Amino acid sequence: MDIVLSGIRSTGNLHLGNYYGALRNFTRMQHENKCFFFIADYHSMTTHPDPKQLHGNVKNVLTEYLAAGIDPELSTIYVQSDVPEVCELYLLLNMHAYMGELAKTVSFKEKARKQPENVNAGLLTYPTLMAADILIHNADKVPVGKDQEQHLEMTRKFARRFNNLYGLEYFKEPVAYNFGQELIKIPGLDGSGKMGKSEGNCIYLGEDPKSIEKKVKRALTDEGPKEFNSEKPDYIENLFTILKVVSAEEVVKHYEELWNKCEIRYGDLKKQLAEDIIKVTSPIRERILDIQGDDAYLHKVTSEGAEKARESASKTVREVREIMGITKF
Ligand code: TRP
Repeated sequence: MDIVLSGIRSTGNLHLGNYYGALRNFTRMQHENKCFFFIADYHSMTTHPDPKQLHGNVKNVLTEYLAAGIDPELSTIYVQSDVPEVCELYLLLNMHAYMGELAKTVSFKEKARKQPENVNAGLLTYPTLMAADILIHNADKVPVGKDQEQHLEMTRKFARRFNNLYGLEYFKEPVAYNFGQELIKIPGLDGSGKMGKSEGNCIYLGEDPKSIEKKVKRALTDEGPKEFNSEKPDYIENLFTILKVVSAEEVVKHYEELWNKCEIRYGDLKKQLAEDIIKVTSPIRERILDIQGDDAYLHKVTSEGAEKARESASKTVREVREIMGITKF
């Protein structure tokens, strides 16, 4: 069984693109692997979030992942700051992480440009903290997007360096995991290729049905096709792409035929699309509302998760200390 570790940023709400892009695969993966999911709240502190909002952000993310199907019976779910062993490994790994390589990281250079008034050491050593997250459980696979590949590459470099330096094969070199062929990209409702938070074109998993209907109704369309079997413009193709994901095959076929005969009525298509999106999101939304109000459950999940995570983490830290020569009197 592979060890899979997934780090989740504690910002933003989950949307349909996240769900089909990765989250649904996460939930399936839990059965075949030993999975760790954690919320990277320390990482978020590099940008100095408002202390009054930090806990709420963590709670949001935790709630939505649980609601979407991350199962604490199958996986280990924890909050990064509940596992202090991560900090110790981070400190030790930092002794072998060099200024030059850290300063060259793309994400660091970007952040330094964006917040020149706050280029802190946490930003510089972000990759070391991420390496500590991963190596502390000796993960085999790490599901990450393109933007995190360099960080993973650095994790492998740190692992290799440690092994070479101390003359043993202690850390594994983790690989990026992108679920093979199964990745589905959900386009935006505004004609753009991708549904994304920064694009402002999202349908959120926790969104109420009225608001979903409104958004779908507002999606970009035109006067309709003029010729039989004509090619669809991007913004129409996008609506069909989402329809293919959320609706039954016959439904898609029905609208394809109407399109081909120039008989399509966008009002009907949108009504159907909204209805089927709501069918997917409603159960998740209901669970979000349930879990949100259940502080006892969230406490139980995070404390049991932290306990399990600390078991594996403290073993690693104990061994690393020993390898590095830190011995007790
Ligand atoms: N840096 C990741 C992101 O921004 C979050 C993260 C932190 C992470 N630690 C990790 C992801 C460990 C995977 C493994 O999305």
